[in-house]
Amino acid sequence: MEMFTLSNGVQMPAEGFGVFQVNDLAVCKQAVLDAIDAGYRLIDTASLYNNEEAVGDAVAEAIAAGKVTREELFITTKLWTNDASYEGAKRSFETSMKYLGLDYLDMFMIHMPYGDIYGAWKAMEEMYSEGKIRALAVSNFYAGKLTEFAEIVDVKPHVDQLELHPFYTRYDVIEVMKEYGTVPQAWGPLAEGNHGIFTHPVLAEIGAKYGKTPAQVALRWNVQRGVSILPKSVHRDRIEQNIDIWDFALTDEDMKKVDTLDLGHSEIVDHNNPMSVKFFVNVTPEAMKGFTIK
Ligand SMILES: NC(=O)c1ccc[n+]([C@@H]2O[C@H](COP(=O)([O-])OP(=O)(O)OC[C@H]3O[C@@H](n4cnc5c(N)ncnc54)[C@H](OP(=O)(O)O)[C@@H]3O)[C@@H](O)[C@H]2O)c1
Repeated sequence: MEMFTLSNGVQMPAEGFGVFQVNDLAVCKQAVLDAIDAGYRLIDTASLYNNEEAVGDAVAEAIAAGKVTREELFITTKLWTNDASYEGAKRSFETSMKYLGLDYLDMFMIHMPYGDIYGAWKAMEEMYSEGKIRALAVSNFYAGKLTEFAEIVDVKPHVDQLELHPFYTRYDVIEVMKEYGTVPQAWGPLAEGNHGIFTHPVLAEIGAKYGKTPAQVALRWNVQRGVSILPKSVHRDRIEQNIDIWDFALTDEDMKKVDTLDLGHSEIVDHNNPMSVKFFVNVTPEAMKGFTIK
């Protein structure tokens, strides 16, 4: 697996494993253990997901079993909007670290571009300079917001995690990221299963040339354009399939064909939509317990 080098020199695995909506803690722990067995080294969770404890349990078990060392792992968590402030970020970090059972965090992320994100970032910069966090990130910061934020803060975001997949390519935000040395990271790299992605004819036709599935083509396309990916699955065969993308390469023509699938907008969520903003600003992790989209 390739590593992406962040602007501070930290090496981040290009592919990671996401655990959004894995609400059952036993299922989450098993999925993370399966992912580590399959070769994933980056695990992406959040205070919102209410499963940091299960991620921590899986990480501790994998390390104790000698499957992996702490240094080989790259653990990301995120602070929610209810903690988007200086004090909130410090509190959120301490709580997450307790649940995860870690003594340092690889990447700490502002989950949403709302609230006192500047106060939160100040606290994150302090913890970063104290060596408690190796990289600082934002999520769902679109081109304009990322520009505003990066122009104002001292430590430019090392990563911006956004919805990025063949149906929402977002080259505009990726261009802005280049200016600030920010690495794009895809949430929903499989479009959360929308648009018939798993049987899509264009992805299937490309995949057939390499003996790969449409999902593998979609994932490969993102990493090949410099985007880190975080596919989620609770099924071992899919977990293995989603990381089996490092033994083939798409041609320029394949890449362009995938680019043509772009719809130019999200069909999952628009972070500028007033209804979405209202929801994200007011909902708490507690209220999201057991939540699934479907
Ligand atoms: N920062 C943010 O705001 C944000 C938002 C959303 C997600 N994320 C992060 O990004 C990660 C990934 O995004 P996501 O979970 O929303 O969506 P995703 O990875 O695009 O899609 C996950 C869905 O695809 C299915 N799936 C996975 N691999 C498959 C395969 N090879 N064949 C068929 N079906 C497959 C999964 O089902 P099964 O599990 O049943 O296999 C699940 O329903 C999250 O887990 C989370 O860590 C962040």
